[in-house]
Amino acid sequence: MSMQLSVVDYSLQIDFGSDDDLTDLHATLVDARRHGAAVVVRYFGRRALLLTSNELVTEAFQDEATIPAAASYRLTTEPVLGTTIQCMEGEEHRRNRALVFPAFRPRVMPAYLSSILEPLAHELVDSFAHRGEADLVAEFTRIYPALVIGRLLGLPAAPEDVQRWAHDLFNYPLDPEGARRSADEFTGLLAELVAARRVEPGDDLLSTLATAEVDGERLADEQIFSFARLLFPAGADTTYLALGNLLYALLTHQDQYERVLGDPGTRGWAVEEGLRWEPPVALLPRVVPDASHWRGIPVPEGRLVVLGIAAANRDPSVYDLPDRFDVDRRASATLAFGSGPHYCLGSHLARAELEAALGVLLDRLPGLRLVAPERVRIRGVLGGTALRGPDRLPVRFEAPRGSTDLR
Ligand code: HEM
Repeated sequence: MSMQLSVVDYSLQIDFGSDDDLTDLHATLVDARRHGAAVVVRYFGRRALLLTSNELVTEAFQDEATIPAAASYRLTTEPVLGTTIQCMEGEEHRRNRALVFPAFRPRVMPAYLSSILEPLAHELVDSFAHRGEADLVAEFTRIYPALVIGRLLGLPAAPEDVQRWAHDLFNYPLDPEGARRSADEFTGLLAELVAARRVEPGDDLLSTLATAEVDGERLADEQIFSFARLLFPAGADTTYLALGNLLYALLTHQDQYERVLGDPGTRGWAVEEGLRWEPPVALLPRVVPDASHWRGIPVPEGRLVVLGIAAANRDPSVYDLPDRFDVDRRASATLAFGSGPHYCLGSHLARAELEAALGVLLDRLPGLRLVAPERVRIRGVLGGTALRGPDRLPVRFEAPRGSTDLR
């Protein structure tokens, strides 16, 4: 039986939507939680209900009746991505999710992925390992997950085009025109590929989507296109930020770095802890479509409810010393991938990508260290706090001997 909430008005000077840095967001969330598990805040200038406890964020994720995910995605992503499973609810969501799920089944993933993930990570490292220095954001984290999606889809496109589509579709709120242009270009290529895969399927993700069947029903072309478009913002950009956050965490905690370097068995747990400590989707706004009561609080139509994932993942009633980054914590059930019906479809893929990339970077770049760590920050991207990662990770490492060949 859930308890009735009391709501404190915390709409102080701070606007939770605006850009912020690491220390400020977490410190502010701690302060907000001190006022309550649900507090009224400002989010991009609008009044919003921010949820700060693990229990309430979990409950909100699961409450499709009052706070459906679809209501916000219809406003935010549908205009450029088309109708994706994010914009669906109830039976329609269940059916469409079941159609794309086979391509992401955890058991299928490992074998299929091992041929893609590590080789790709090595290719990227090859381009800078000889230099002994790099910016891991510009030269690795931002590129790797987009290229993974490109290879999963079997796209015969230049890596620069794949990266541009990923960038533009993510950047939609800041440049809707650019996003539409990239969406059209990408869709043009997909149309040719899907037609070909329907006739002659291969072992790539597009073939699985083109041939998947649930209750005798197949995905229509437009459903495949919108799902593929969704993979860039939902899959590539989240993973790029998560990888940056994980590397930042390890490179600013020397003991943890040594632990993970020395014991490859801890790398999967380091990935989990990175996602808990600094989830790339830190705040997730929802819109309440109809005036209702939630936990006894009257919620007017159109009110924003902000799911404080970053706060829930550091809720002291769930995690001991929650601000500490500790790869031996072994807490996998965090809210980084959400909860309930829209739980991240790509969580297995994301985990596999993060672990493969981490392994390759640690093994190939001995003595890895941040240059001027005090100047590196995890920040909100796209002009907000919702999605977070470091914008640069300048590093030095030992270049392999005899590799002074300049590429
Ligand atoms: C570390 C990386 C990732 C994080 C932190 C992440 C996080 C999330 C979260 C929080 C949600 C729930 C959104 C909501 O309830 O509104 C979600 C949904 C989703 N994610 Fe991920 N994600 C990641 C990687 C991926 C990858 C690699 C893919 C696929 C290639 C992917 C595909 C999806 C899809 C399709 C949904 C929508 C599911 C639905 O609506 O039923 N994600 N993700």
